[in-house]
Amino acid sequence: MLKNFKLYVEEDYSTMSQRAAEVFANAVKDDPMGAYGFATGSTPIGMYEALIKLQNNGKADLRKITAFNLDEYYPIQPDDPQSYYYFMRQNLFDAISLSPENTHIPNGAALDPIAECKVYDEKIASAGGINMQVLGIGTNGHIGFNEPAENLPATTAYMPLTESTIADNARNFASPDEVPRNSLTMGMHSIMMAKRILFLASGENKAEILQNAFNGPITTMVPASFLQLHHDVTIVVDKAAAKLL
Ligand code: PGA
Repeated sequence: MLKNFKLYVEEDYSTMSQRAAEVFANAVKDDPMGAYGFATGSTPIGMYEALIKLQNNGKADLRKITAFNLDEYYPIQPDDPQSYYYFMRQNLFDAISLSPENTHIPNGAALDPIAECKVYDEKIASAGGINMQVLGIGTNGHIGFNEPAENLPATTAYMPLTESTIADNARNFASPDEVPRNSLTMGMHSIMMAKRILFLASGENKAEILQNAFNGPITTMVPASFLQLHHDVTIVVDKAAAKLL
C-alpha cells in the first residue's frame, strides 16, 4: 500500500459503514460549512444511514454543508425513482434536512448536456472546491461514471456508459434496456482536486479490482488507479473486499 493511503479493513459491511461515517463526520466537524462530494450505488447506503443516526443523536451536524454528487444518468428526470437526485434525497439529504439549494447533482434533464457540465464545474469552483469526496468503485474500476477507456475526461463530462456498467446497474431497473445509456460525471481532475478522498468498497466481487486499482499500474483502463496520485485517500473496506490487498 502506498503511504498516501490510510487503510481501514473492517469486519463486515455494517462496521465498514460505521467507520466511514465517523471519518466523514470528523471532516464535517472541522469544516461544517464546506462542500462535500457524495456517491450513489449500494455501497454508501450504510454509511448514509450511520450519518443520519449520528446527526439524530447530536454527534454530527451536516445541515450546513454544501453537497455535490459525482454523477447522474442522462437522460433522466430528477423525480424518476431511478435518478441519482431521487436516490440522494431518499437515502440522505431529506433525513439530514439539507435544503435543495445546498445540494447539487448534474441535471440529467438538461436540454444541453455539454452546457450542463460547464455549469456544474462552475458551481464546484464557486463553492471553493470539494473538502472530502466519497467514492465507490465499479467492478470495472470506474469512479463516478469515468469508465475504462483510452482517454478519461478531466472536467465534468457527458459520457456513454459501458456495457459492464449497464449490466451491473440493471439490477435496479426492470430490464437492462431501461438503463440510460449516457451519464454526466465529474471528471478525473474534478475528483482529484478534492482535498480528501473517502473511498469505500464492500464484498468479494470488489476484491480483484481493488488490487488492480491500488497495487497495479496507473492506467486509464482502471480509472480508480489514478487515486494512487492523490495525496490524501482514506480507504474503508470490509474484509471480503480487502482479500487481495
Ligand atoms: P455499487 O456501485 O456501490 O452499487 O457497487 C459502485 C459504483 O459503481 O461506483
